[in-house]
Order: sequence, then C-alpha cells, then structure tokens
Amino acid sequence: MPDSAASKQFVDPRRLYATEAPLRTRVGSFNRYLLADRASQDLFRDVTQSIARHSPIADIGCGVGVPLLPVGPTVMDGQDVIGGDLSLGQLRSVASASSGPSPSLLQFDAARLPFRSASFGCAVARHMLYHVPDPRLAAAEAARVIRDAGLFVATTNSSSSRPELQNAHTEAVVDLGGRLVERMSTNFDAESGGEKLTGSFRRVRTEPWSGVLAFPNVDVLFDYYRSTAYFKMAFDTEADRERLAGRVSEILRLRFGEGSAPLTVGGAIFICTGPIPVISNL
Ligand SMILES: C[S@@+](CC[C@H](N)C(=O)[O-])C[C@H]1O[C@@H](n2cnc3c(N)ncnc32)[C@H](O)[C@@H]1O
Repeated sequence: MPDSAASKQFVDPRRLYATEAPLRTRVGSFNRYLLADRASQDLFRDVTQSIARHSPIADIGCGVGVPLLPVGPTVMDGQDVIGGDLSLGQLRSVASASSGPSPSLLQFDAARLPFRSASFGCAVARHMLYHVPDPRLAAAEAARVIRDAGLFVATTNSSSSRPELQNAHTEAVVDLGGRLVERMSTNFDAESGGEKLTGSFRRVRTEPWSGVLAFPNVDVLFDYYRSTAYFKMAFDTEADRERLAGRVSEILRLRFGEGSAPLTVGGAIFICTGPIPVISNL
C-alpha cells in the first residue's frame, strides 16, 4: 500500500507526549546522529544568530527543552527564553533536567498563548505546528505576540523524509494487517506549511534543510523507530507491536546488514517577518 493510502487521523498530541521518554529518544538521535549538508549547517547557524538578535524569545512547544534541529536556543540558555508546551510531562522533564537557574516554563496551547500582544522579539515553533489542529490559529497567535520588527521561525519535516524507514514500516504494517496512519507532519510539512503562514505574516521565506541521520547500526536506528508515533499506533496490543518490531527489524537488516544505517532526512525552516494584526469584530 503506498504511503498516500494511509488513513488520515488527527492524533491528540497529549497522548503522544504524556511522558518525555519517546521525544527524548528522538531528540537524542537528532542531536547525536544528524549530519546536515553544508548549506543546511550554514542555514542553522544563520537562523540561530538571527533569533538571538530578537530576544526575548517564546519557545512554543518546547518539548524536552532541546530542539531536534540545532536551530535557536534551548529553554535552559537564559532568562530571555520562555518555554511552553501543552504537555506537563515535557515541562517537568525540562525542569528536572536543568542544573542551572530554573528555566522559565509555562503550560499553554499554541493556539491560545498566555502573553500580551507584541511582547516578544521572536517566537519559535520547532517541529510542533503539525500537532496543532489548525496551524493557522497558532501562526496568528505567534504573529500577535511578536513585535512589528519581530521574527517567527517554524521548523518541520518534508513529506518524503526518512523514506528508508517509512518504506520498511509500511511494508511490515501491510504484511501484518496493522493500522497505517498518515504521517504526523502532514498537517504542517515542508510542502504545505508556508501557505498556512501567509495569512499572518507579510513575508514568509522557506528554506530547505537536508542531511542524514547517520545511525551507527540497525539496533540504534531501531530504538529510534520504537519511539515514533507511527510504530505505536500501528497496533493496539504490545504483542502485536512486538511482531511488527520483529518484521521491521528483518527488513532493515536485509537493507543495511551489520553496518551503518543512515536515514535520509529533510524539511524546511520558515522564516517569517511582518506580523499581520488580526482585525477583531468584537
Ligand atoms: C515533536 S515535539 C518538538 C519539541 C521541540 N520543539 C523540538 O524541536 O524538539 C512537539 C512538541 O509540541 C508539543 N505540542 C503539541 N501540540 C501543542 C500545542 N497545541 N501547544 C503547545 N505545545 C504543543 C508537544 O507536547 C511536544 O512537546
């Protein structure tokens, strides 16, 4: 079954992010194994520098505090970063992992930010807008809370990221009669995201990023696979998920053997300026 035949189902992110462990595994994989190409490394550096020039910064959907992509600050970086997330589990993990001064953390929904208008130099929403049922609402909120000369940065994946793993997963789920859900990022991916930002910002620049997740072997790639939402959602029981894990492991071993197991990854960074004020009818 092609990827496009997967069923469309909006997954409540509170279920996916109730505990920190799966996200921490994925962030750990990106931090350790992402080899970005030269142009992407330059892009990450330039965007990070640009964000730093626009403090204070609101980190929307901060997760475990450290982002998947090396773009922008961590919540632990300083007093001028306020991190927020829908998940109390993630916020607790940030608070307990930080050794320095307490990071500024708040529980909030990206679609309704608890901040005054024009109170930030920059807002970042890294790999999270696809979890918001209507990303346009979150974009409007980000535009509202930054100043006129402020910056909004959103990162996401491409719909064709990690084809090696997606193909193995799709083949195994179809073989075993499991549930194939549409990719989590479809709601706001590199291909569709820009258009959802244009109603809230006068200028939206789309910059592609790409590279490989250079896992040293299939076992390490496999830990990453087990932390993904599509693995968890393919079956309801642990026993069925174990069968799936076994099948995917066979497919990946056939492909990569005992050597390194690189996944092709890519996506986009949207750099937005010129927030458009919302005209209220009230
Ligand atoms: C894939 S993680 C990304 C975390 C981090 N920004 C990064 O780059 O690694 C998505 C995060 O967004 C949070 N999230 C999902 N929907 C949200 C919403 N409506 N408002 C705020 N946070 C949300 C999740 O709880 C999770 O921590």
